[in-house]
Amino acid sequence: MTFNHKWVWITGASSGIGEHLAYAFSRQGAHLILSSRQQPALEKVRAACAHPDKVEIVPLDVADLDSVQRTAREVLDRYGLPDILVNNAGISQRALAAETVVEVDMQIMQVNYFGTVALIKALLPEMIRQRKGHIVSISSVMGLFGAPWRTAYCASKHAMNGFHEGLRAELHPYGIPVTVIMPGYVNTNVTINALKGDGSKHAVKAKTTASGWEPDYFARRALRVIASRRREAILAGPREWLACTLKRFLPGVLHRVLNNIKASE
Ligand SMILES: NC(=O)c1ccc[n+]([C@@H]2O[C@H](COP(=O)([O-])OP(=O)(O)OC[C@H]3O[C@@H](n4cnc5c(N)ncnc54)[C@H](OP(=O)(O)O)[C@@H]3O)[C@@H](O)[C@H]2O)c1
Repeated sequence: MTFNHKWVWITGASSGIGEHLAYAFSRQGAHLILSSRQQPALEKVRAACAHPDKVEIVPLDVADLDSVQRTAREVLDRYGLPDILVNNAGISQRALAAETVVEVDMQIMQVNYFGTVALIKALLPEMIRQRKGHIVSISSVMGLFGAPWRTAYCASKHAMNGFHEGLRAELHPYGIPVTVIMPGYVNTNVTINALKGDGSKHAVKAKTTASGWEPDYFARRALRVIASRRREAILAGPREWLACTLKRFLPGVLHRVLNNIKASE
């Protein structure tokens, strides 16, 4: 088993993709550190893992940058440097840019981008010192092209992709791999938890999300990517692959499609 006895720290592990990554790693015998803001939800995930005795709960709000620093220190002191850090915590958006107050743009950047960057930076000195570790970040196909109703989300995922591309080259001399996984639609609560323009929850599951990959299937595929230490992987169905391909080769056609996207998608 590839991940047997490996230590894996997963953020956003209380729900959806992070939760199912936890189950998939646990089935392979990994030690887990599960983080998110909701401790009771993390406890439920631990109980459902194949090896609950190998799961530690470390509550963390990645938007609170001081707490990220403090929590990383505690994790290093208590468990040592994790073999794999999975930056998965994230929030989406369902609102037009014109209707989104800038504080919401900042909140989305804070969680998706700065929270990820802060946690990586909190572990980096130890990773470099030990020449050990593997950074895995869950971005999105929205890191490759922009779409309406989620401008801040697209911006945060583009920012993530750029950061990781530069970081990968910086960490190459130390043999520390950086893997960016870009999901398409996955059937989670992501659009229910997405923010509206005033910062309240969208509270609706989009049809596209509901018809996306099941999170367990996504997690199994993601573990294969992580095991092979690939630089990047788009894990998505044919619709999202088509959009990525059009963006690259026929961007005008993609933009005609994007012009017609509705809030419910
Ligand atoms: N589902 C999709 O279609 C899809 C597509 C592309 C990319 N993604 C990406 O996949 C990742 C996981 O999303 P999901 O689909 O699994 O959505 P989800 O079910 O809403 O899960 C989001 C997770 O992020 C955590 N989180 C949110 N804000 C946080 C904060 N400030 N600090 C710590 N944790 C926080 C949540 O935990 P708490 O509420 O307990 O804090 C939850 O565990 C996100 O980065 C998302 O952008 C999802």
